[in-house]
Amino acid sequence: MSIVTIHELTKQFGSHRAVDRFSLSIEPGEIFGLLGPNGAGKSTLVKVLTTLLSPTSGQALVAGYDIRRQTVAVQRTIGYVPQSLSVDGTLTGYENMLIISKLYGVPRQQRLERIRLALHYVGLDSVAHRLVNTYSGGMIRRLEIAQATLHHPAILFLDEPTVGLDPVARKSMWELILQLRHDHNTTVFLTTHFMDEADELCDRLAILYHGQQVAIGTPAQLKAGLPMPNATLDDVFIHYTQDYLVTNEESSYHDTSATRRAARRLS
Ligand SMILES: Nc1ncnc2c1ncn2[C@@H]1O[C@H](COP(=O)(O)OP(=O)(O)OP(=O)(O)O)[C@@H](O)[C@H]1O
Ligand SMILES: [Mg+2]
Repeated sequence: MSIVTIHELTKQFGSHRAVDRFSLSIEPGEIFGLLGPNGAGKSTLVKVLTTLLSPTSGQALVAGYDIRRQTVAVQRTIGYVPQSLSVDGTLTGYENMLIISKLYGVPRQQRLERIRLALHYVGLDSVAHRLVNTYSGGMIRRLEIAQATLHHPAILFLDEPTVGLDPVARKSMWELILQLRHDHNTTVFLTTHFMDEADELCDRLAILYHGQQVAIGTPAQLKAGLPMPNATLDDVFIHYTQDYLVTNEESSYHDTSATRRAARRLS
């Protein structure tokens, strides 16, 4: 049984279709990657699936719950790490976790232990009482994962989890994601601009282009589908999105500046 089922999902901003009749099924425990150029609609799709935005049309079931009619049930079942930073730098890691534990309704007598375990899981126990604005980008992303998994979600949505991280921090984020799948069979839906990340970490990938799904498959299938020998995932990405620079005249300053801002703050 699929854990995520998306049927013809569309999200329109005014006359602009950011997500255009997108369909997909994801299996439990799968690590699914969504690729696509800036402005393709990746974050919008993630926000619709996490109930932060309501769809214009189409349906999606997340862990069996309808994203339109059962928003609270969806929210209880998922974890979400947004593209931009979601932690408060003027608080400690522990204090950030405490806020989230209240938000998720963790009973008072369980909070301390649950937070301790979650911080230990992501390797942040020794810095729990340091201010977050003294953390490295990798540590901040780990704290966000700890927050997003405090309530043991069945599905974790990660919007560009490794943007702005150095190669070592990126690899350790991949290990953390694999560890979550191994230990809890967590299903992971992530977006990324890194082709090596997509290739090595993800079981399956979809490429989004102007809101539409233009390709889907395992990394190996996508590479084998190109009319060239020894194709790389870079080749696959370029193949399906090559007219992007020409056609994407409305590509907004806003998208680029938001991504750069997040990258700067994390690095
Ligand atoms: N709240 C909004 N109101 C109007 N337009 C929006 C809104 N959010 C996103 N858009 C537009 O929808 C399109 C898709 O944006 P989205 O942020 O989903 O892209 P993305 O694939 O996540 O890009 P990036 O790789 O830069 O993060 C863009 O054209 C963007 O300007
Ligand atoms: Mg985005």
